[in-house]
Amino acid sequence: MHHIAIFASGTGSNAKKIVEHFKDHKYVKVSLVVSNKEKAPVLEMARSNNIPTLIIDRDRFYNSEDILKDFSIYKVDFIVLAGFLLLIPGYLTQKFHNRIVNIHPALLPKYGGKGMYGMNVHKAVKAANEKESGMTIHYVNEKYDEGEILFQKSCKIMPEDSPERIAQKVLQLEHQHYSKVIEKILTKEA
Ligand code: GAR
Repeated sequence: MHHIAIFASGTGSNAKKIVEHFKDHKYVKVSLVVSNKEKAPVLEMARSNNIPTLIIDRDRFYNSEDILKDFSIYKVDFIVLAGFLLLIPGYLTQKFHNRIVNIHPALLPKYGGKGMYGMNVHKAVKAANEKESGMTIHYVNEKYDEGEILFQKSCKIMPEDSPERIAQKVLQLEHQHYSKVIEKILTKEA
């Protein structure tokens, strides 16, 4: 059995899809939901699904390896970032080499890097008059959005599409594909 920790800072609509996808799964269990925001709605979603939650303090996250103790309690062997806005520290990217995935709401390597998250991405895509956008799932290393790309899917952008409309189209793709890509990675190893 693989034990996933989902890291999320906000709404957690991707986290919710993943939790639903792996409910009663033979090989994969969502064992922990981690957030750096104590009021993040994703924590409520986790509690209502009886999944343990962990709220992390930014300084401790970077300056200690305490989180590894929680990981061992919950047997975490794979990390899924789903709208998590802090950079992952080196001790985690090293210990979890090719065991951390992220979803990014654009077609990397375009529109990635520090500060490029959520609506900032969609506004930049709109401002550049792009004809398409999409989503990218990639492994996580110590730099924002630069790990090996595992999966991408694009969607068309119409001239009249607002950044909010682009966000909707991209989020729909994310919901369709993120769980399946995670499942593919993990069941290969099951
Ligand atoms: C998603 O669109 C995800 O791609 C993006 O945040 C949103 C989270 O939505 N992540 C980033 O921008 C990371 N750079 P959710 O909380 O509803 O899943």
